[in-house]
Amino acid sequence: MLGDKKVLFSGMQATGNLTLGNYLGALKNWVSLSDEYECFYSVVDLHSITVRQDPAELRRRARALYILYVAAGLDPEKNCIYYQSHVSAHSELAWILNCFTYNGELSRMTQFKDKSAKHADNVNAGLFTYPVLMAADILLYQTDLVPVGKDQMQHLELTRDIAQRFNGIYGDVFTIPEGYIAKTGAKIMSLQDPSKKMSKSDENPNASIYLMDDADTIIRKFKRAVTDSEACVRYNENQPGISNLMEIYSTCTGKSFAEIEKEFDGKGYGDFKMAVGESVVDVLRPIHERIADLEKNKDYIDSMIKANAEKANYVATKTLRKVQKKVGFPERIR
Ligand code: TRP
Repeated sequence: MLGDKKVLFSGMQATGNLTLGNYLGALKNWVSLSDEYECFYSVVDLHSITVRQDPAELRRRARALYILYVAAGLDPEKNCIYYQSHVSAHSELAWILNCFTYNGELSRMTQFKDKSAKHADNVNAGLFTYPVLMAADILLYQTDLVPVGKDQMQHLELTRDIAQRFNGIYGDVFTIPEGYIAKTGAKIMSLQDPSKKMSKSDENPNASIYLMDDADTIIRKFKRAVTDSEACVRYNENQPGISNLMEIYSTCTGKSFAEIEKEFDGKGYGDFKMAVGESVVDVLRPIHERIADLEKNKDYIDSMIKANAEKANYVATKTLRKVQKKVGFPERIR
């Protein structure tokens, strides 16, 4: 608890072009939770350097992601939106938690196995201890709720194990966080291969809708989306392509699957794909407009970056000092 509200923490990496999946599966849900909780939303740039980055590009993308958080509807005066690298407590707590995490646990993480296969020339120690940094992110703010994608649930479970282990030794230091997977939009699949998640690193540009795609591009990609031969708009396992488009349409318009099936009864896939494309364009248009406005307003964004870094530092340092004392580091002399 912070004040009279429960605490929510989540973060996203500023690497790759963010997709519609990132918006519908994550950002949109964050916005809907932001009134109810005391929220911390981080641009997790420390995590990004576990794979090699171009420095100027990383900085540019981190700012673009910051602006996107705001444009998507997270008010930076009510939510603590900050860069992870501006709060050194993340790195400091991660070091301590590394000493309470077993190599065996980390080698079981599926993301580590996937990423080390993908970046075989750079299997660095940071890639291995990535989940410990994520645990530090969460535990520093005494977080109650962590909205995550399904692929991050294993890291969240590990965070809980680390926190319980630490509390078991030193008493109640950390709040044990709960993971939260939103029901709708939780998994937006590739438009070209609906058995795969829509990913910012997909090599086929037609597989993903990028958040910055213009209207024509969006419509074109939906027209090319793979479907099947059943020729009816119905949500079922045998029609993964159509079901994915229904999921997108439902999340963008708020219509239920039954309503959608009725709306397109007797109509072809062409009409349906067009409607899905337009619903996405309608959702992204106001976000694009707000981004353009915010980009003109450098001083406002800079002042939010500064004020929120101070707030995050204040809360995080409080937890860090408690932990440092528990493990036996000498008191600071003032
Ligand atoms: N690892 C997460 C991802 O790639 C991002 C992340 C870092 C995160 N720290 C976090 C998510 C803390 C939730 C809470 O998606």
